[in-house]
Amino acid sequence: MKSIVVVDKNWGIGKNNGLLFSLKKDMAFFRSQTLNKVVCMGKNTLLSFPNAKPLPKRVNIVLSTKEIFDGCIMVKSLDELFEEIKKYPTDDIFFIGGARFYETTLPFVDSVLVTKVDSDGGAEVFFKNLDADFDWELISESEAIEDNGYTIRFAEYRNKNKKIYGEK
Ligand SMILES: NC(=O)c1ccc[n+]([C@@H]2O[C@H](COP(=O)([O-])OP(=O)(O)OC[C@H]3O[C@@H](n4cnc5c(N)ncnc54)[C@H](OP(=O)(O)O)[C@@H]3O)[C@@H](O)[C@H]2O)c1
Repeated sequence: MKSIVVVDKNWGIGKNNGLLFSLKKDMAFFRSQTLNKVVCMGKNTLLSFPNAKPLPKRVNIVLSTKEIFDGCIMVKSLDELFEEIKKYPTDDIFFIGGARFYETTLPFVDSVLVTKVDSDGGAEVFFKNLDADFDWELISESEAIEDNGYTIRFAEYRNKNKKIYGEK
């Protein structure tokens, strides 16, 4: 079970319910990681997609306490989410945002795939700064790559203190 996120130099992830940057190579990376897998998200992230449609060729699980969307498996709570994802191999499960969803599920993921963009995107919503948290360890980071005029790096952080949902 992993989160996958793209962050700016301040760990910013979004503004105006959209992404901060348009990044071709990062999009390709996201697709390669998640294709034919299970993507789990909060409602606002689904709403941020073109026409609020689920991502093709993936199982889309969406958390909302209020609404139902076509083509998605809807869950109403974290309890329901963690019950639902038991049906799939753990390695196939990706938590794809947004800010609130990442925050509440972060203790339970094995690792986070972080695309780091070396720019300030003027974000309104943020991911936790994993460099400033003892529970998280940087286990890999790529060389700098040019993507649509930005400098990016693909990194992975491991959760050293992973919690099992529902256990104290
Ligand atoms: N940089 C990236 O990699 C990345 C990835 C994804 C999203 N984003 C950005 O993140 C921003 C959206 O973040 P967000 O925090 O507003 O939205 P979000 O987490 O996608 O969705 C929030 C909504 O989902 C439901 N929800 C999510 N977590 C919940 C929880 N733990 N318990 C109960 N309900 C929960 C609630 O819906 P109800 O009100 O219906 O109950 C809540 O209002 C956008 O700017 C988006 O572009 C960035």
